Amino acid sequence: MTFTLPDLPYAHDALQPYMSKETLEYHHDKHHQAYVTNGNNLLKGTEFEGKSLEDIVKGSFGKNQGLFNNAAQHYNHTLFWKWMKPNGGGSKLPGKLAKKIDEDLGGFEKFKADFAAAGAGQFGSGWAWLSVKNGKLEVSKTPNGENPLVHGASPILGVDVWEHSYYIDYRNRRPDYLKAFVDHLVNWEYVEELFSKAS
Ligand SMILES: [Fe+2]
Repeated sequence: MTFTLPDLPYAHDALQPYMSKETLEYHHDKHHQAYVTNGNNLLKGTEFEGKSLEDIVKGSFGKNQGLFNNAAQHYNHTLFWKWMKPNGGGSKLPGKLAKKIDEDLGGFEKFKADFAAAGAGQFGSGWAWLSVKNGKLEVSKTPNGENPLVHGASPILGVDVWEHSYYIDYRNRRPDYLKAFVDHLVNWEYVEELFSKAS
């Protein structure tokens, strides 16, 4: 099996009250598992067997839609679990990253507003992102499983705006979910780690 479901880096109830145990039981144990299972089935017999996850995502984009959807969602979710932590969020960012957000994105408050607007403005399922592209930070949004990798960028933070990510806890209030994500869940140390690797 090429794709395997990673364990959550915390207990299912560790992100409460901002993300419930029930949401993580469905989102991680069922939805992410389905991307892993379907991805493994769709990978069999293709030219992508034996390649790295990143190469499968980039190589299948626009060529093998079914495989891309599942491989990209496996990639996105594997990062998404690590982009959150108990008692995360807030505005105390590691210094280098904070400085870069000031330089490229007009400050942390503007970044927060633009990131939330990207998530709220994604019509239907998708993701909002903070990425490094050509040495600069950028905020973007993508539909479905698409991600910045296929647009020549390195994602350093992403938030899942598929309804399965928030409907149990926030019903249709996606902006409230996005606010809770930034204020209480983001693991900025991990974002900084990816930022350093991408820079
Ligand atoms: Fe998801």
